[in-house]
Amino acid sequence: MISTGRKVRVKQMNFLKERIEKDGKVLSPSVLKVDGFLNHSIDVQLMDEIGKAFAEAFHQNNITKVITIESGGIAPAMTTAFHLNVPMVFAKKAKPSTMSDPVYTTVHSFTKNTDYTLCIERSALSEDDNVLFIDDFLANGQAFEGICHLLEKTGSNLGGVGICIGKSWQKGQELVMSRNVPLWILVSIQKMTPEEIVWDEPSAWACE
Ligand code: G4P
Repeated sequence: MISTGRKVRVKQMNFLKERIEKDGKVLSPSVLKVDGFLNHSIDVQLMDEIGKAFAEAFHQNNITKVITIESGGIAPAMTTAFHLNVPMVFAKKAKPSTMSDPVYTTVHSFTKNTDYTLCIERSALSEDDNVLFIDDFLANGQAFEGICHLLEKTGSNLGGVGICIGKSWQKGQELVMSRNVPLWILVSIQKMTPEEIVWDEPSAWACE
């Protein structure tokens, strides 16, 4: 459980919670399958609601761009950018031949037990950008750290983090909070088994 007095908020998006309870599947104590509506097949109405929720959460944070990582983050990042009326960029896991001045970082995924490279075109972000990172899951936070490195290399600022599904027993939430940026999580899981998902109550999470 996250301690109080930090900039993390759980929005408790009931739409998403109910959908996970109906159509999600707990594959192991740390992996939730949501590919029927969130990160493979996409429920576009749900995704639009997610984008609205993040836009409402961050509308006062002077966000100039939304960033995510292919592939699971693209849909929620796009609807969020649409509702914030700002551009969106996604970090790629392989350098396309068309990229002329790439910025790279290497990420280790504990979830998948692999290393991968993230890259963006240097000109996609600038020193004037205040960037919102959106992703489908926050597990151990290594993808988030990779994004932070890319932002540092382009001189842009991390203005906030929005996560569709948090898993509060994994290290990612503490890692994001250690960067002292606002973090919004739409639904947060305390623990899960194939029979039951235990949710973090929003009241258990203080803000500012
Ligand atoms: P990590 O430190 O363990 O690497 O955690 P991270 O949050 O960076 O997530 C690594 C990848 O694993 C991400 O996908 C993330 O979406 C996925 N992931 C983490 N937890 C879960 C889970 O409970 N269920 C599912 N379905 N995925 C999970 P990615 O590598 O960016 O690739 P992609 O699958 O989006 O293409």
